[in-house]
Amino acid sequence: MKRVITIDGPSGAGKSTIAKRLATELGFEYLDTGALYRAVALYLRRSGCDENISDEEISRLLEGLKISFSDGRVFINNEDVTDRIRTPEIGHFSSVFSARAPVREFLMGVQRGFPEEHDTVAEGRDMGTVVFPDAWKKFFITASIEERTRRRFKQLQEMGKAVTLDEALRDVKERDERDSNRKIAPLKKPADAVHIDTTELSLEETLQCIKKHLGSDNSPEDRP
Ligand code: DC
Repeated sequence: MKRVITIDGPSGAGKSTIAKRLATELGFEYLDTGALYRAVALYLRRSGCDENISDEEISRLLEGLKISFSDGRVFINNEDVTDRIRTPEIGHFSSVFSARAPVREFLMGVQRGFPEEHDTVAEGRDMGTVVFPDAWKKFFITASIEERTRRRFKQLQEMGKAVTLDEALRDVKERDERDSNRKIAPLKKPADAVHIDTTELSLEETLQCIKKHLGSDNSPEDRP
């Protein structure tokens, strides 16, 4: 197992941008686990599922799914779905289906297999608590709900998705509630993670703060 840096936090906190930049600067691979949950949601939606589907049916459907993540792109059964998973509908259903045991079990192996070959920055909700409890360094990134809504709104607008600020706020609140209160692997700060509130911080300031915590452990001569 190579080195893993975990970045957990609620939706819209800026985790993806931070994790991507950090991975590039350190020469690590970037693992976007939200993209994996979104890809599973797209697959289940295409199979006709909604929130009423049973766990047995989910397990049966997942037998027909091969999912992979490479160079920042996500594939289901070799189809590149990177752009298709970035819709409000798939955002909603990724949160809904991510609360289901067969989905989390299915993705556990995919996620844990990743750092076997590469030093990894892994981003999600349960990276430091459940998937990589022995990670090298752990961070928990948050921001106020107003700031997260503003960021999510801007991101959706840049992607050409028509949403109002109110809809973005509702989406962020709903997902916070569901992701934090589900029974399995809820979003919570790992006890040994560094907490960074990015409400008042720019991307550069957040990165500096993370790098300060990585300290000299990341000097080139320390790298395996
Ligand atoms: O980070 P994101 O918005 O792309 O994630 C989509 C959903 O996937 C999120 O609402 C909850 C779920 N998720 C999860 O349960 N565990 C993870 N490690 C990553 C995402």
